[in-house]
Amino acid sequence: MKILIIGDIVGKGGRKAVCKLVPELRKEFNCCFCIANAENIAGGSGLTKKCVESLRNAGVDIITSGDHIWKQKIFIEEIRSLPYVLRPANFHIDQPGKGYGIFNIPIGGVICVINLIGRIFIQHHGDNPFTKIASILEEVKDKANVIIIDFHAEATSEKIAMGRFLDGKITAMFGTHTHVQTADEQILPNGTAYITDVGMVGSRESVIGRDINAVVKTFTSGMPSHYKVIESNIQLCGAVVEFDPQTGKAIGIERIIRNL
Ligand SMILES: [Fe+2]
Ligand SMILES: [Fe+2]
Repeated sequence: MKILIIGDIVGKGGRKAVCKLVPELRKEFNCCFCIANAENIAGGSGLTKKCVESLRNAGVDIITSGDHIWKQKIFIEEIRSLPYVLRPANFHIDQPGKGYGIFNIPIGGVICVINLIGRIFIQHHGDNPFTKIASILEEVKDKANVIIIDFHAEATSEKIAMGRFLDGKITAMFGTHTHVQTADEQILPNGTAYITDVGMVGSRESVIGRDINAVVKTFTSGMPSHYKVIESNIQLCGAVVEFDPQTGKAIGIERIIRNL
């Protein structure tokens, strides 16, 4: 069985690419399920119900997020009626939404999807992701064999440590947030598929999805600037994970890069 994973979808350009390419990729790789991180989908920052519904119509089953999830204020209410959208599980307990769920795979069986956020170079008021994931795995261990985790984090060290911490306990961990795909996809020694970051769905001619000159100006002058989202030259980055649905162990992981 195979699942398709898509990195941070940025703005309208990213949304268009997903709508065109996800149906094709699902068919090409024969994927029965798709998970995408969409924390940058609405105007480049945050999510809206309308935007996530367009992803669902394109064949994305579950949507994960990260530090930008509440940037569109309307989503603080909207998330309550969207069971297929996850916010990081280790956010403070008072935040709306949920951090993990067990979902039906259309061709049979169930899959547990968990969203976590790191603590290095990311601000949030939540829990340690390592202790949090240990308690979640305790809760779900008898309910799902197949467990996939989006660890939304900046530091490669934190993500690699998490992958090793989870090796053998879950089917796959993929990283998001940096918007840059890493070339370290692998099956870890105890059967967990791993990639530090799957990358983004955004412009190749940008600084992680935003206007090059504006970002460079901030770095050279120190002055804040408006970072326009770039909607052209869109590249989709993701991965396909193959697994045994009986054991929940990964069999393979392949990186994907496609131009729109
Ligand atoms: Fe992020
Ligand atoms: Fe992002």
